[in-house]
Amino acid sequence: MKTAINKTMPSSAEGMSRVDGRLKVTGAAKYSAEYTPKGLTYGVLAGSTITKGNIIAIDTKAAERAPGVLAVITHLNAPKVPGDQPEKGKAADAKGALKVFYDDKIYYNGQPVAIVVADTFERALFAASLVKAQYKTEKHITSLPDNRDKGFPPRGEGTYKRGTEDAWKLAPFKVEQEYIVPTVTHNPMELHAIIANWDTDNKLTVWDKTQGVKDTQGDLAHLFKLPKENVQVHSQFVGGAFGSALRTWPHEVAAILAAKVVKRPVKVVLSRADMFTSVGYRPFTWQKIGIGATADGKLTGITHEAAGQTSSYENFTEGPTGVSQSLYACPNVNTKYHLVALDIATPTWMRGPGEATGAFALESALDELSYQLKLDPVELRLRNYAQTDPGSGKPFSSKFLNEAYQLGSDHIGWKDRKQEPGTVKQNGWYVGYGMGGGMFGAYRAGATIRAKFNADGTLLLQSAVSDIGPGTGTAMVLIAAEQLGIPAEKIRFELGDSSLPNAPTQGGSATTASVGSAVYKACADLKEKFQKLAGNGATNNPDYTKILKDSGLPSLEVVSETDGGNGMQKYAMNSWSVHFVKVLVNAATGVVKIDKVACVSDCGKVISPKTARSQVIGGAIGGLGMALMEESIIDHRYGRYINNNFADYHVPVNADIPQIDALFVNKPDPIINPMGAKGMAEIALIGMAAAVANAVYNASGKRVRDLPITPDKVMA
Ligand code: MOS
Repeated sequence: MKTAINKTMPSSAEGMSRVDGRLKVTGAAKYSAEYTPKGLTYGVLAGSTITKGNIIAIDTKAAERAPGVLAVITHLNAPKVPGDQPEKGKAADAKGALKVFYDDKIYYNGQPVAIVVADTFERALFAASLVKAQYKTEKHITSLPDNRDKGFPPRGEGTYKRGTEDAWKLAPFKVEQEYIVPTVTHNPMELHAIIANWDTDNKLTVWDKTQGVKDTQGDLAHLFKLPKENVQVHSQFVGGAFGSALRTWPHEVAAILAAKVVKRPVKVVLSRADMFTSVGYRPFTWQKIGIGATADGKLTGITHEAAGQTSSYENFTEGPTGVSQSLYACPNVNTKYHLVALDIATPTWMRGPGEATGAFALESALDELSYQLKLDPVELRLRNYAQTDPGSGKPFSSKFLNEAYQLGSDHIGWKDRKQEPGTVKQNGWYVGYGMGGGMFGAYRAGATIRAKFNADGTLLLQSAVSDIGPGTGTAMVLIAAEQLGIPAEKIRFELGDSSLPNAPTQGGSATTASVGSAVYKACADLKEKFQKLAGNGATNNPDYTKILKDSGLPSLEVVSETDGGNGMQKYAMNSWSVHFVKVLVNAATGVVKIDKVACVSDCGKVISPKTARSQVIGGAIGGLGMALMEESIIDHRYGRYINNNFADYHVPVNADIPQIDALFVNKPDPIINPMGAKGMAEIALIGMAAAVANAVYNASGKRVRDLPITPDKVMA
């Protein structure tokens, strides 16, 4: 083990610590499952034991008679969800989210068939084990490789072409290979949880793990046909999500239905096993890349095919082939994306959704090509550097990826890399270096901030936005401190509540760019108001408390709204990343040890250095997990996950993680917003899996194209 990551730099050198760090480490931060409204009851879901078919009978008697049980709800007695009922004029078979307890149909193994509510969690858990369903079983399919011939193009986004199709085939140097990214499940520390309570017949309150309280409010208002203002959503702390809390899931609706039946608050906390079937996952995706280049390393063509799995009742799409369209200057590119509907639950976005999957294939293929060309992989990328967006022809709002390549190769010691694989061996371990990069759209959405400056010199900022862990509150406080020239300690950022001013869902790496813009504007609006108040006495460095005192006002408040900006009309806007990895591969066992990692982000101006660094380290660890250990495995005979627990589903732990250094180009983007800040969440993971695979090849000469890179594959 190298130096522990938190010892590499004194914290004072890294910027402000997170504003809610103390609350989190002392247990004072309250997560959704930790609220205790009066009369709280506990709901536990019972899941289907078959994978496809119908419920023909369901015996709930034993569960109903069990001690402490208040209700057992199934499709036979559940209250109707008004928003789930067929709408006039719409096709009855239109695909959509799973409707819980709607009818007798079973779409996937583990699908909730009942919720048992009791006065304690243990009693509910026991009673749920007594629910027995009988099924009529149909033949199921759960394997993507076995059913790839059933693929179909998603509406509107199946294919892309520029230049000549399959031009790579005519190139003097070419690679054609297939790559597999298996199902990977979001496994945040905090399980998904909700407490639901009907305050009255048409007023609903939930404490819910969600990345967007406003979206959840809208979903629930729609589903239960309530005015939005009658739905209160609280999500003040979220213990990680990575995309799993971007939408409303069946367990949330089940808890709300249960609360309606028992007329008391109901808490539902998913089990770790439930997490594999209930809140999405990164979909199993097969990919094939054909890529060709001239002898001097100029790309002549890329063909990228992808087939990703979805459920039978809903089409989930992402963009795995997007990276091949835009990452490199290449005249001829054609891509094709298909979905394969399986008898499984619907996937969802997971950190770097689409791009992380696509970048594994593209960046691996590019590495393979570099060996054919006998060209340094960094040099190959520089020779195909895109100065403008190859897809749209638009200029980039900013792109300093070339500087990122330089920073990263200097930092990892790239000059020590040998082009010939398997040539460096120390103490029984092969040593190798690899790199892989990626891109992700730099998005920005509208947001509103209420800012109140008080006579005691404190500032309160309010926004509905969630903080799933990146340190949103911290970044917002830092923006306001800089704009107003007041100490950060005087500023409080209130978030995670649907009663607060509008903010986008925390997703797509867009929070700082979006909500930060509104904070920036609120500060400007406050300053203007203060200047007006001060009148003739106005200065550039106003003493806000004095102005308030002189005016006899207790506080000054603004509500400031920003839109998403219109940068994308004229510019292609992206954040860029490149990851450099040094690995050791055991010559006898095939075990891969990560020795050193350097992640370089071109994400515009870094607002909060300390939380930015830890966000990148977190993303890098996610990428290392994807590369080396994460894989949700289904026993296809039964259609059931067999490693749905932390003993068998491996995520990196401290001992797996070496020194990870997060480096930033840290040059502001002049277009996206006044701070110049682009997103950094997704790019921290995108490209990492390829960097590891490429390093493993450089070390050992073994190319692994199906993740994760476990020792058996290295030895094979
Ligand atoms: Mo992220 S996949 O936008 O939570």
